[in-house]
Amino acid sequence: MQRPVFAANWKMNHGPTEAKAFMRTFLAHYARRPDRSVLFFPSDLAFAAVADAIRERQDLLLGVQNIHWEDKGAFTGESSAAIARDAGARLVLVGHSERRHVFGETDEMQARKCHSGVRAGLTPVLCIGELLAEREAGQAEAVVIRQLTAGLSLLDPRDVAQMLIAYEPVWAIGTGKTATPEDASRMHAVVRRHLTAMLAEKAASVPILYGGSVNRGNAATLIAAPEVDGLLVGGASLDAEGWSSIVRS
Ligand code: 13P
Repeated sequence: MQRPVFAANWKMNHGPTEAKAFMRTFLAHYARRPDRSVLFFPSDLAFAAVADAIRERQDLLLGVQNIHWEDKGAFTGESSAAIARDAGARLVLVGHSERRHVFGETDEMQARKCHSGVRAGLTPVLCIGELLAEREAGQAEAVVIRQLTAGLSLLDPRDVAQMLIAYEPVWAIGTGKTATPEDASRMHAVVRRHLTAMLAEKAASVPILYGGSVNRGNAATLIAAPEVDGLLVGGASLDAEGWSSIVRS
């Protein structure tokens, strides 16, 4: 994946109609650039609209926000990695803080989702990050290492080398409080050291994205910080012009 990586996580926003309108504006503002990767994670029901809109733009990659870890079966409301792959997804977000903290998902579930994604040919983007209380208690590094170790535990190191990690401190998500570039760099370096212990020199191939209140004003500074290989953006990715300006930063 070409770095920097700019990833839009729309969360539960933009239905098919808004997604189509968004893409029309975005495509008019963003011509293909070979020196970066741009990823979209729409809601499942807007996925086909986005896939259709970017059919001619193979530089833009599409992923789903979540999968179930089982291949198929009686899991009402869920989609498997194979279903997501069949619909055209290339990537999947795993372990987003809202899945962990709003829906009560465990580290073990993230491990199973990463494994299931890889088996179906999806690239997992494993999201990790500490709560404010954990940070204030001096546990930020221990928490992200625990989430990483657990989330990657079922994967072959060869598969880990193909995936992406997103460091999203929970206290910075949707709060307007961004980690400083120094904070982000320091935590990304912790992640990189952990990956290096697992993968040796192949750890360098894993992009580590920062997420949490990224906007037009701070994107360029964050992306320039050492060890920050990309951005995972929520709120500021919902406006097509704003997002295109972040992607061009
Ligand atoms: P915000 O950019 O809205 O803070 O959300 C970040 C995020 O959770 C991206 O996955």
